[in-house]
Amino acid sequence: MGLFKGKKEEVMTIGVLTSGGDAPGMNAAVRAVVRTAVHAGMKVKGIRRGYSGLLEEDFIDMETRSVADIIQRGGTILYTARCPEMMNPAGPEKAANICRKNGIDALVVIGGDGSYRGALEISKHGINVIALPGTIDLDVASSDYTIGFDTALNTAMDAIDRVRDTSTSHERCSIIEVMGRKAGHIALWCGIANGAEEILIPERYDYEEQAIIDRIAERKKLGKKLHIIINAEGVGDSNGMAKRIEAATGLETRATIIGYIQRGGSPTCRDRVFASAMGSLAVELLLAGQSNRAVCFRQGEFTDMDLAEAISMKKDIDTSLWDISRKLCR
Ligand code: F6P
Repeated sequence: MGLFKGKKEEVMTIGVLTSGGDAPGMNAAVRAVVRTAVHAGMKVKGIRRGYSGLLEEDFIDMETRSVADIIQRGGTILYTARCPEMMNPAGPEKAANICRKNGIDALVVIGGDGSYRGALEISKHGINVIALPGTIDLDVASSDYTIGFDTALNTAMDAIDRVRDTSTSHERCSIIEVMGRKAGHIALWCGIANGAEEILIPERYDYEEQAIIDRIAERKKLGKKLHIIINAEGVGDSNGMAKRIEAATGLETRATIIGYIQRGGSPTCRDRVFASAMGSLAVELLLAGQSNRAVCFRQGEFTDMDLAEAISMKKDIDTSLWDISRKLCR
């Protein structure tokens, strides 16, 4: 379906929502969807609070001015939510019927893999969907980039530098836990960027804590006074680990869980520009008559693929970065 749905005077209406954990750059994506669509003569309905708002018909008509002054803002002006109702079969069917009732021909969904699955289920009930990867975790397998990852990384890197300063003054060991759900991308990137001694990520950690203790003891013997351990949320237990390491090494050890700070703040230039490109591409795909696609960044290019195929993909951490980290963590 292109701009017109059959009869020439009937203009296509798209709904746009943000879903799951918010991510800096989501606003830039929403802005790009709205402005590209309006530029092409389409109508846009903003759907508040993700799929929850869709099921409650919480819509706002959006035009060019609705998205003014938001590209620099963190969070999402559309609000977001996690929606358990979408997990059972009745949810997506109801969502599709609500779209039809409100004249929404296509949905642009900005979120992580849970949001992608929701979008796919809705598409099975006859509503065209386009999914955009929006998560700080980088754990959407179909794309090498996700909206918000770059900002979250820079926020976490800055926070870790600060912990490093105080750890250095006190000659302590610090375990710093970063977000990422089950994925270790943030931990790996920060581990390299912050010059950590240890990087613990769910994809590679063997849970041999004694080996970490032994390495700390060896470094201590060599005169090293500062030890930074970056721990991924998916490994967890940072507080317990700190207590055990302190007991075993005699080195004062503290845990810092950075938490939601990583999800907020003004998006970086990369997140603003990439989110804008992805939002625009989502609308271009609809204009070109495409259905049920996932927008991706792969091998240095913005592109798209079948949504079901995107969901079936698996992602590992960047193995070359991991290999580099093995040489640099000392
Ligand atoms: O997906 C982003 C993320 O921040 C994860 O890193 C984290 O595990 C999760 O969301 C936390 O979600 P909630 O906001 O529901 O606590």
